[in-house]
Amino acid sequence: MTDKQVQTEDNTLIDPISSSPDFEQTESRIAIWGHPAHAMTVAFPVALTFCTFGADVLYWLSGDIFWARAALWAAGTAFLFGLAAGVTGTTELLMVPGIRARAAAWTHFVIAVALLSVLGANWGYRLGGYEEAVLPYGLLLSAFGVVMVSAAGWHGGKLVFDYRLGTSKGS
Ligand code: HEM
Repeated sequence: MTDKQVQTEDNTLIDPISSSPDFEQTESRIAIWGHPAHAMTVAFPVALTFCTFGADVLYWLSGDIFWARAALWAAGTAFLFGLAAGVTGTTELLMVPGIRARAAAWTHFVIAVALLSVLGANWGYRLGGYEEAVLPYGLLLSAFGVVMVSAAGWHGGKLVFDYRLGTSKGS
């Protein structure tokens, strides 16, 4: 018996979390015509985090200031779109009982908040001088951002494909 299970008088075991009436209520509430807003907003921070890293590498290889400026814009927009994804994801997490009840959703929240801190630091660091910021710490922050966004994206996909969170049960 795990610490989450409860033993009834007739010796059947009940998991109080999965037996809650709302446990299977996992359909998205922050959606446009049934399409989850979080899934629509995550594409931008994921792509822009990779763009920041790419622009940093190109600046490192070419020394062309254009790439340092491109990295500044990519880092800033990755952070701002990341915040938008955080708002849609957190609202979903708090409003949908079946999502709120699953530990995996909270794990995704923790990974995503750590990611947003890295994205914010990467942008903020560049605001004091975007060209000097690239080597080495801007590039290192971008590489760390790529690792973190990959973890958040992979784990978010797990929530959808394994746990079916935020998906429609059909009408
Ligand atoms: C900060 C708070 C966040 C929370 C609470 C959160 C929560 C969730 C939840 C509940 C889902 C399941 C689908 C749904 O209900 O819409 C999900 C999916 C996902 N999340 Fe997040 N998320 C957050 C931030 C992020 C960020 C910053 C990223 C990446 C930039 C991200 C990437 C993903 C991806 C890729 C999916 C799968 C989408 C799909 O395949 O449809 N999440 N997230």
